[in-house]
Amino acid sequence: MATKPEMAKIYIMGKEHQVPKELTIMGALEYAGYKYIRGAGCRAGFCGACSTIYRKKGEYKLYSDLACQTLVQDGMRLVQLPFVPAVKAKYDLGKLDVSKNTVLEYYPEIARCVTCNTCNKTCPQDLEVMEFIQAALKGDIEKSARLSFDCIQCGLCAVRCPADIKHYHVGQLVRRLYGKYMSKKSKNLEKRLKEMAHGKYDSEIDRLTRASKEELRQIYKSRDIEAAK
Ligand code: FES
Repeated sequence: MATKPEMAKIYIMGKEHQVPKELTIMGALEYAGYKYIRGAGCRAGFCGACSTIYRKKGEYKLYSDLACQTLVQDGMRLVQLPFVPAVKAKYDLGKLDVSKNTVLEYYPEIARCVTCNTCNKTCPQDLEVMEFIQAALKGDIEKSARLSFDCIQCGLCAVRCPADIKHYHVGQLVRRLYGKYMSKKSKNLEKRLKEMAHGKYDSEIDRLTRASKEELRQIYKSRDIEAAK
């Protein structure tokens, strides 16, 4: 006989719900009958679509996290957080000049950073957000791109920033600048892109698109894996 899951009492928009303790915030909201139209994507901590804010039992402090990665706790209070609409600068990557401080031109608010560390404390990926903003401010694109590399664009840093900085958009711009103008070009990638443009993999891609889940699983399991050196 299946054992009954341990339950937690949580509040969604103030209404009490009993949900299994092993659920994430996302799972608990669905268990309680809410349907995600926005604010959910990969459900695995990669896409950054599910940023959420909550309170723990007896605490006034607001916590922020990814709803698909955070387990519910007894007494948790949840509200629905609208997606993060921070305005992204419009630019043509091919026309930007990396010799100038391009980032400051498109995101002048980074000069207002008061190094309060709120962005670092908010980031669910534990990135050094403040440091990549400071590096961008100094024009160190390489360092800023490296420090922001694992950003999943959830936007929680921007939600909490007292200086209205859109850190995740800044990180995206520095990585684009680094990729386009500063990183070493990969010969293998160029070769592969040409092969793709000439249709070398069309039939293979077609075969994979038509394959069933089970066939795909088998193909994945039997793929060649390069031996670790
Ligand atoms: S749904 Fe993609 S990170 Fe949570």
